[in-house]
Amino acid sequence: MPLRRSVLILVFVGLFTPAVVSGVIQYFQLHQEIRSHFWGDKARLENILVYGTQELLWNFDQESALKLVESVMTDHRVRRVVIAEPDGTVFLERASPLADSPLAVTDAQSILHDGGVIGTLRLTMDPISDYAAIGKQLLPMVAGLLLQLVLSLVLIYVFLNRQFLLPVKRLEEQSSRLANQALDKEYTWETPNELGKLGSSLEVTRRSLRVYRDNLEALVQERTAELQAANRELEAFSYSVSHDLQAPLRAIDGYATAVEEDFAAVLPPAAQDYLRKLRRGVNRMSSLISDLLALSRVTRSPMRRVEVDLAILADQVIAELREAEPAREVDFWCERPLTVVVDPGLMKAALRNLLGNAWKYTSKTEGARIRLTSSGGTRPIFTVDDNGAGFSMQDVSKLFQAFQRLHDASDYPGNGIGLALVQRVVTRHGGQIWAEGEPGRGARFSFWLGTPLGEKTGEEGL
Ligand SMILES: Nc1ncnc2c1ncn2[C@@H]1O[C@H](COP(=O)(O)OP(=O)(O)OP(=O)(O)O)[C@@H](O)[C@H]1O
Ligand SMILES: [Mg+2]
Repeated sequence: MPLRRSVLILVFVGLFTPAVVSGVIQYFQLHQEIRSHFWGDKARLENILVYGTQELLWNFDQESALKLVESVMTDHRVRRVVIAEPDGTVFLERASPLADSPLAVTDAQSILHDGGVIGTLRLTMDPISDYAAIGKQLLPMVAGLLLQLVLSLVLIYVFLNRQFLLPVKRLEEQSSRLANQALDKEYTWETPNELGKLGSSLEVTRRSLRVYRDNLEALVQERTAELQAANRELEAFSYSVSHDLQAPLRAIDGYATAVEEDFAAVLPPAAQDYLRKLRRGVNRMSSLISDLLALSRVTRSPMRRVEVDLAILADQVIAELREAEPAREVDFWCERPLTVVVDPGLMKAALRNLLGNAWKYTSKTEGARIRLTSSGGTRPIFTVDDNGAGFSMQDVSKLFQAFQRLHDASDYPGNGIGLALVQRVVTRHGGQIWAEGEPGRGARFSFWLGTPLGEKTGEEGL
């Protein structure tokens, strides 16, 4: 319910209830007063009639008795007067035309003379006209109350409106403008009360927000440019470092080979062993550098999206793997076609790592099996799963970090770069990748790609 209506209802109820209660009390007091007044008058008239007709009844002076009765009947509340002798014979009776009103009350009184009963007086009186008088008095009373009510209502409403409702409305307006970030209109608050203070603090907030908003855009642009520059610098640096490290390594390897070959006859077996170890270290370092280069190429190379069948790319990768290890028997199954719009080079590198991992980590499994499936739909989820060594879900957060490995190099060789590269490829396609596994029961890598088939992409040339 709006505040204005609630306040109106509150003020109305607050004023109306005491007015009604005091009106009802006044009405009952008036009613009580009129009743006791009526009964007093009735007793007085009965006395007049009883004592006034004593002698007249005794002397059978009907004429004088009638005069007395008629003078009493000038009071319009008197409806009927009956004077009867002890044997019931009516000595005198006078009645007004409205004698049988339902509110009329009749009392009988004995008329005495010298201690003996000489007759009975029955006086009927009707209080209706007294009640009518209440009605007449009530009307101005109610009108006065209503006037008082309306006046108070108007005065209280005007006061509340000025002091409370209008400032609250302004506050509401001001805070919803703040919420909608319309920060240009200034508010001045002169009211010294709590609402005024609240309004002034909203105004201070508006000013700070405006300053903040004006600076934010520039700040974001500045920071983005700084970040992009830092990123570019970092990538160029790691690329050139990796690239430049290859040349001295090749030299070390070349000289070590030369020493090994040219001085084989003079070198003691221990020195030859050291040389072999030295060349193994050099080769390992060279392979690490190649992987690093491949990883940085994933982010640096421009994107070129075309429609590709993932199943065909997977077949090519599996063929390469079979060629490298013809002795292995691995059951590969793939759903087809798996049409996607991707960069074929990057996607093949990603599949080479995913399927290469599945191939590698099933090398100690009997009946090795690798599958590539799709959930279908407009934005399919592709899954590569195998029944190989698997991994513990406790370490799942490490999987996609460069150089993080969950298996020992003596069991399964590798540098720990492959999945970091796969994640970069998927991210560059606007998608996401995640993994599930269980030690000894295999692993499952699922990913989706950002641009579904048929949608345009704005990433070309990145
Ligand atoms: N299919 C899989 N089954 C079990 N573990 C896996 C599987 N794929 C990856 N892992 C775990 O995740 C780790 C990281 O994988 P990633 O491909 O990045 O590195 P790698 O295969 O060890 O080395 P690289 O790919 O650089 O030759 C692996 O060392 C392995 O412990
Ligand atoms: Mg790998």
